[in-house]
Amino acid sequence: MKIYIGSDHGGIELKQDIIDFLESKNLQVENLGVDTTDSMDYPDKAIEVCEAVLNSEDQDACGILICGTGIGMSIAANKVNGIRAALVADCFSARMAKQHNNANVIALGARTLGNELAKEIVANYLNVEFEAGRHARRVDKLNKIINNQYSC
Ligand code: RB5
Repeated sequence: MKIYIGSDHGGIELKQDIIDFLESKNLQVENLGVDTTDSMDYPDKAIEVCEAVLNSEDQDACGILICGTGIGMSIAANKVNGIRAALVADCFSARMAKQHNNANVIALGARTLGNELAKEIVANYLNVEFEAGRHARRVDKLNKIINNQYSC
């Protein structure tokens, strides 16, 4: 599975730690930056990572977005058609994000999570599959909301 990762200036240290962790597991990860502490606007990076996920040749591609809290990244990512981004701060939610919500992006807070917990969260997210079934119907409704086709 191809993993695209990006952060704003607040997330570069955690981002590198996660990249090292993923590479140590022989997972394919692409760093989309940023890699300096120069202040930047998180929506710009969120859109770049989301577009990489959507345009990837790997249908199972996913994204990891990191900013100070993960909040801004998750808000921005969820405005992109085709992206289901989950702001996760615990391992159970990380698993549920994939199993029930089929999240193709997770957002993490570099200023709210310790690095070890953040890596555990990433591992929990990556190690499970979407359960489909009744969850597929619900995810379809999510897709209809963004396409203005939703009806109860
Ligand atoms: C940057 O200072 C900070 O606002 C950003 O990293 C993020 O936490 C926004 O949600």
